[in-house]
Amino acid sequence: MSIEETSRQGMSIADLLKLSSTLQSVSDSPRLDVEVLLCHILDKPRSYLYTWPETLLSDEQGVMFEGLLQGRQRGEPIAHLVGSKEFWSLELEVNIHTLIPRPETELLVETALELMNKPDARVLDLGTGTGAIALALASERPSWEILAVDVVPEAVQLAEKNRRHLGFDNVTIRQGDWFEQISGQVFDLIVANPPYIDREDAHLQRGDVRFEPHTALVAHNQGFADLERIIADASQYLAEGAWLMLEHGNQQARQLRNLLSAADFVEVKTRTDLQGHERLSYGRCFPFR
Ligand SMILES: C[S@@+](CC[C@H](N)C(=O)[O-])C[C@H]1O[C@@H](n2cnc3c(N)ncnc32)[C@H](O)[C@@H]1O
Repeated sequence: MSIEETSRQGMSIADLLKLSSTLQSVSDSPRLDVEVLLCHILDKPRSYLYTWPETLLSDEQGVMFEGLLQGRQRGEPIAHLVGSKEFWSLELEVNIHTLIPRPETELLVETALELMNKPDARVLDLGTGTGAIALALASERPSWEILAVDVVPEAVQLAEKNRRHLGFDNVTIRQGDWFEQISGQVFDLIVANPPYIDREDAHLQRGDVRFEPHTALVAHNQGFADLERIIADASQYLAEGAWLMLEHGNQQARQLRNLLSAADFVEVKTRTDLQGHERLSYGRCFPFR
């Protein structure tokens, strides 16, 4: 560590905020990144940084800040550095074993809440990761019964930790390979944000995804393998008139609609996210199967 770096101990908040210039090549939001790291270390809201800019970090806080700043300079996601990410106003613990929840996935939650009007709906969240979708739905609909599964044991542990921390008793988390552990059960709504990126996609070499596991991101068959498998099997687990909702890549919507229609889903539609990308496709299980 250089003399300049060690001298960050005892620096003021105002001076530390200026170090955001060192993140310009790795981040689209360098200033915000440093603010989030400082808030994490100080355990204070963002307003504190601007109300008390002359505050000095203790030696311990200075060392911690330096470690986190260096991590960010290497490109590590802010969520991994601070260990959490907000999704649907819920603070979720995150780690390297699954996806960091993305704001665009809130579209799936919004759509599920809008289309599913059964007060006692039974819901399945496939590939739950941190538990983001299942826990967001549980926070809005305490009377729904929600089952969430993931194939990665560490993701299951993480989702269960988040569930317990938030205290949602209407969510059950289970390990399994898609529908493997679901036999005999029928749902009113199945939601999934499965891996859908092609192994050769250049985006895998950029930004946060470099630090996320391929088990959460990559699927065979140009990214379609898991989406196809879920669509092929879902109707066995859906009640009459029940919904299947799938998040997907912004170039995959047309094929997704074709796959849903070919599997006899009706009322098939796609919705766009806030960036205008086709992000979510869904359909309804044909009621007179
Ligand atoms: C794109 S991440 C989505 C995580 C979370 N639902 C979200 O939206 O933030 C996909 C998740 O699917 C899980 N997964 C991958 N293959 C699976 C399989 N065969 N069965 C169940 N889950 C799987 C991964 O471990 C990962 O947590």
